[in-house]
Amino acid sequence: MLELSNKLLSVYSLTSIGLIFAVYKIFKRIRTNSLAKSYFQNKTVLITGASGGLGKAIAEELYPLGAQLILCARNNEELNKVKSNLMLKSGKEPEILILDVGSKLDVIRPKLDEVINKFKRVDILINNAGVSFRGESFTAPDEVYEKIMNINYYGAVRLTNYFVNKMIQDNNERSKAEQKRRQYSIVNIGSVQSYLGLPYRSVYCSSKHALLAHADALRGELFHHKNIDVINVQPGYINTNVSINALRSDGAKNNTNDDDHRLGFSPNYVAQVVIRSIINRDQEVIVAILLHRVAIWLRFFFPRTAAWVVQKRAQKLYGKNFND
Ligand SMILES: NC(=O)c1ccc[n+]([C@@H]2O[C@H](COP(=O)([O-])OP(=O)(O)OC[C@H]3O[C@@H](n4cnc5c(N)ncnc54)[C@H](OP(=O)(O)O)[C@@H]3O)[C@@H](O)[C@H]2O)c1
Ligand SMILES: *[C@@H]1O[C@H](CO)[C@@H](O)[C@H](O)[C@H]1NC(C)=O
Ligand SMILES: *[C@@H]1O[C@H](CO)[C@@H](O)[C@H](O)[C@H]1NC(C)=O
Ligand SMILES: *[C@@H]1O[C@H](CO)[C@@H](O)[C@H](O)[C@H]1NC(C)=O
Repeated sequence: MLELSNKLLSVYSLTSIGLIFAVYKIFKRIRTNSLAKSYFQNKTVLITGASGGLGKAIAEELYPLGAQLILCARNNEELNKVKSNLMLKSGKEPEILILDVGSKLDVIRPKLDEVINKFKRVDILINNAGVSFRGESFTAPDEVYEKIMNINYYGAVRLTNYFVNKMIQDNNERSKAEQKRRQYSIVNIGSVQSYLGLPYRSVYCSSKHALLAHADALRGELFHHKNIDVINVQPGYINTNVSINALRSDGAKNNTNDDDHRLGFSPNYVAQVVIRSIINRDQEVIVAILLHRVAIWLRFFFPRTAAWVVQKRAQKLYGKNFND
């Protein structure tokens, strides 16, 4: 009898904790959504990789919230399409910035200086441009490693370093009271592969691991500028052209749309998560299905089991010719 009532008691308390948590989540969401209406009104947001996929979706979600957007990518035509589609609704005219984030700093710097001259500051930098990889790690040539690292890692780092300096300058010119109200954000679009080294994705995984480490170190160094947020958003599969645009070992595009991506999250859903992470000043947000979350846990707590899973996966994928 006592045992039964004990059991009932624990079921009861677990349900209550669950309910309290759910109510907290609902209230938090309501608060975030109401803040979103004014949060971006006077904010300038630079999005890299805005010509398609997730970057375009982030632009679509931010534009109606009143943000001044700066859309950055290499493809002028696609950027213009994104811009004119946005402008079917009312909002501030987006600026187009044609820039290969993999270029050297002496190419990038003058273009970013122009942005600062025109808009005075960038409040939010979203490092979203990225290229994936399909191939074997130990047969991939240096050039492919360099190309992908140069976009996914150095590209993000170059822009981050440039804008963090500008943010600090802008912040220092303000009174203490103003600083309290003002927020700046650096957002990195990572991946669940920021925590997992997956077979035949080595170059991509490494670039995302590196970016996460850089962000953590940077956040530490910003201890005297606590209103500059460093945010890592780590999505699982998203339904974009990423696998079509992925580079193979020979440096050519893979040109195949994986089922994983076709069945992934909608880019606009992930874009909304990104926006909420900025408002909520999150440091790290994983946007992934349970299986991928479990994989990340496994990697940390049971690394041998994780290694076994990775090998099984590699075995399954082997045989598909990554180099033809
Ligand atoms: N899709 C997924 O499953 C998934 C999952 C986790 C994380 N992510 C991450 O999400 C981000 C966006 O990827 P996506 O899925 O939207 O891929 P996508 O559809 O292939 O879009 C990639 C974007 O990056 C731009 N880009 C590529 N190289 C660039 C360069 N050198 N300089 C400037 N822009 C460049 C592309 O524009 P241009 O070609 O015009 O330059 C394009 O706008 C990436 O960081 C990716 O790693 C994606
Ligand atoms: C935006 O800036 C303008 C001009 O400085 C100001 O009047 C307005 O209140 C600001 N809006 C918000 C939502 O901060
Ligand atoms: C994928 O690429 C095609 C062709 O360039 C384009 O029409 C489509 O909008 C892209 N999809 C996304 C989600 O960006
Ligand atoms: C692209 O990569 C997939 C594995 O993810 C592979 O099955 C496919 O053959 C590759 N496509 C090309 C054109 O090499």
